[in-house]
Amino acid sequence: MSEFKHVFVCMQKKPPGMPSCGDRGSEQIFMKFQEKLMANPELMTKMAVTPTGCLGPCMFGPNIVVYPDAIWYGNVKPEDVDEIVEKHILGGEPVERLVTGKGKPPGMF
Ligand code: FES
Repeated sequence: MSEFKHVFVCMQKKPPGMPSCGDRGSEQIFMKFQEKLMANPELMTKMAVTPTGCLGPCMFGPNIVVYPDAIWYGNVKPEDVDEIVEKHILGGEPVERLVTGKGKPPGMF
């Protein structure tokens, strides 16, 4: 049985000129996760998805982080959600091409 995952999607918006996930399409990413949960209620026993404020590494956004693995994904697009769910949430393997941080946010020492 795969471990339960909790996906946090940054939905932060910021003033013009400041990078933010909310201005780069994170709402569509969150909605795509929600649509997958609605289409497959069994998924609710394997994952939860929560919208959040700023996670820190704004310049890499849209950012999501998956716990308990502490895998950070950056520049995520709605069309990446299927792969994240299939490969990471259900399969336990991060989608390496989108990973920006493991165990800590990108840019942190
Ligand atoms: S606005 Fe998303 S990480 Fe800062």
